[in-house]
Amino acid sequence: MPFRTIIEPFRIHSVAPLRMTTEAQRRNAVQAAGFNLFSLHSDDVMIDLLTDSGTGAMSRDQWAAIQHGDESYAGSPSYEIFRDAVQSLFPFKHVIPTHQGRAAEKIIFTVLGGSGRSIPSNTHFDTTRANIEYTGAAAVDLVIAEGRDPASLHPFKGNMDTAALDAFLAANRGAVPAVFITITNNSGGGQPVSLANLRETRAVCQRHGVPLFLDACRFAENAWFIREREPGQQERNVADIVRDMASLADGMTMSAKKDPMGNIGGWLAVNDDALAEQCRNLLILTEGFPTYGGLAGRDLEALAQGLKEVVDHDYLRYRIRSTAYLGDALLKSGIPVVQPIGGHAVYLDARSLLKHIAPLQYPGQALAVALYEAGGVRGCEIGTVMFGRQADGSEKAATLDLVRLAIPRRTYTQSHIDYVIEVCQQVAAQAQSLRGYRIVSEPKQLRHFTATFEPL
Ligand code: F0G
Repeated sequence: MPFRTIIEPFRIHSVAPLRMTTEAQRRNAVQAAGFNLFSLHSDDVMIDLLTDSGTGAMSRDQWAAIQHGDESYAGSPSYEIFRDAVQSLFPFKHVIPTHQGRAAEKIIFTVLGGSGRSIPSNTHFDTTRANIEYTGAAAVDLVIAEGRDPASLHPFKGNMDTAALDAFLAANRGAVPAVFITITNNSGGGQPVSLANLRETRAVCQRHGVPLFLDACRFAENAWFIREREPGQQERNVADIVRDMASLADGMTMSAKKDPMGNIGGWLAVNDDALAEQCRNLLILTEGFPTYGGLAGRDLEALAQGLKEVVDHDYLRYRIRSTAYLGDALLKSGIPVVQPIGGHAVYLDARSLLKHIAPLQYPGQALAVALYEAGGVRGCEIGTVMFGRQADGSEKAATLDLVRLAIPRRTYTQSHIDYVIEVCQQVAAQAQSLRGYRIVSEPKQLRHFTATFEPL
């Protein structure tokens, strides 16, 4: 291409209004929400970067696929279209639809978990960790050391520490029912895992006779990073890279609200017949019959189409580049962000921007609230609020205190992002005046969703 500007590989087909608010209105709104951004009314948010999950824009062809949905309770042809689309990338024998990723997690950990057991991962996401701990099992994070250092430029910071995994499996023989690997590593900054690391992880698992599962929400973004960064992968088709990743695993859990471009959906896929049967029996209890599993036939059709669109190279080039556009601009302004820039989000390093706020006074929360008050930009704390409460009830600082600005797929334009950059610059310029928070009330689990706060 002779031009530098990477344009959105789509035209806008349908629009939704965005309500303009004043700083005074936002200060009132966030106070009424107990300073928890999850409790805001989304009409009070201007640029919503809370999550890239279920918030993307579906394509014309996905909306057309919705009309093709067959809503039969059993044996719907929409299931077959969905299953074939999944298996074309992830050729696992059994594909079990769920209403979203955590439903798949709940089912698989009900079977595999239980007290005395441990499930290692590079890094478990919050719902994954909570679903494991709910069964009494331990969720163990074994990402490489570079993955815990926000400034490290390692190209695959999501990689598993395979030596640590090997030692862990040796020390916990018989107590580890499965190893998980999250692609991309969301809690660690949206960082990819290399094919070489997946192969090594596979080899370690095989040596110990433990199955390997993918938590594959952002598989296409991970595969694009492999194509761009891993030696020998540059000429390859992303779909082939995805099939290579799948071939190294025994199964997967999936949130189809991310790379499959759905507003809702997920699945669980496994090769093992007996495990599949146990999972299907649990599916029927809470999700539904195995040919729809908590989704409408039309959703299954939209996901099948989304899976075709997400492995398109023009889309992925634009997607990864547009996330880096935001990250690079913040870096240039001297704002600390996790590097290299991840696939679906830019992670502000709140702990190093707000050195005067101790981790147990939640610098990530302080920064997230400030971005909302200043510009109506809603991000998400990924730090001590999200991960600080320990299973034994104590509290300690999380590894990092980050604010994630997640980019919904195909939803915001470059001028929306230019505005976000300005808001971040303004808040960073006033960083010294920001104060920490204390928690007023919190639930027993997943406290970040409903806790209320008070400024210190
Ligand atoms: N695994 C990862 C890596 C995730 O990022 C998520 C969701 C899940 C599992 C659970 O999937 O939401 O469909 O039940 N992450 C969203 C986020 C919520 O904002 O990153 P789900």
